[in-house]
Amino acid sequence: RRQWHPTPSGCEMSDCEDEAPCSQLSSYTLAALQEFYAEQQQHHSHLRGDDKYNIGIIEENWRVSQFWYSPETALYLAEDGLAAAGEGGRIACVSAPSVYQKLRERHRDDVFLCIFEYNRRFAVYGKDFVYYDYKNPVDLPERITTHSFAIVVADHPYHLEECLRKMSETIKLLTRGKILLCTGAVVEAVAAKLLGVKMCKFIPEHTHPGKRVSLFRELRLQAGP
Ligand SMILES: C[S@@+](CC[C@H](N)C(=O)[O-])C[C@H]1O[C@@H](n2cnc3c(N)ncnc32)[C@H](O)[C@@H]1O
Repeated sequence: RRQWHPTPSGCEMSDCEDEAPCSQLSSYTLAALQEFYAEQQQHHSHLRGDDKYNIGIIEENWRVSQFWYSPETALYLAEDGLAAAGEGGRIACVSAPSVYQKLRERHRDDVFLCIFEYNRRFAVYGKDFVYYDYKNPVDLPERITTHSFAIVVADHPYHLEECLRKMSETIKLLTRGKILLCTGAVVEAVAAKLLGVKMCKFIPEHTHPGKRVSLFRELRLQAGP
């Protein structure tokens, strides 16, 4: 199989062993590939300007459980995370791209951030992007040092206990202790057991009113609302 992967500069094709070499592709297939490549370039060109950190500029894809926070909620979580991280504290946004976008929108150079994401469209964020699949929770690139993030802000894609369990492994591996987690209120007890987090009063909002999660903070952060 040959696969197209979006990269910061557009889209790259990765070779797989069972694929015919390019020279064996018909001119029709090559033309179709070139057309696809041109479309992808065009599709990502709007992500090069100053507004590339706008929430929603990478559209939701519900097939991979993408439901974006409202800008107000993203701002709240970003500010909360930043305050908890403290000066120079590194922040990991795990499957929480809107929080990453809000942080980068406001802090272009003075904060160390990583966006851990499964969807490679977020590779447009260059070195900040870390490919991540919760199904392989400890499979992280070498450049990521364990326990090197002052805080992890996380939102797991599927409200299944198994998904929370797996993502919790990643969160514990990355954080120095502080955690902000958005998850369903129904897993409150599991989240408390796995991560030592407690539900907060603040209710996160999404661009789609039907989506409901609760905000949990690691116990030392419980001073907030
Ligand atoms: C419910 S959304 C949380 C996004 C959050 N509300 C925001 O606005 O930033 C779940 C996120 O998990 C990501 N995701 C989907 N499948 C995943 C997987 N297998 N491993 C890790 N993350 C995944 C989606 O791309 C999406 O960003």
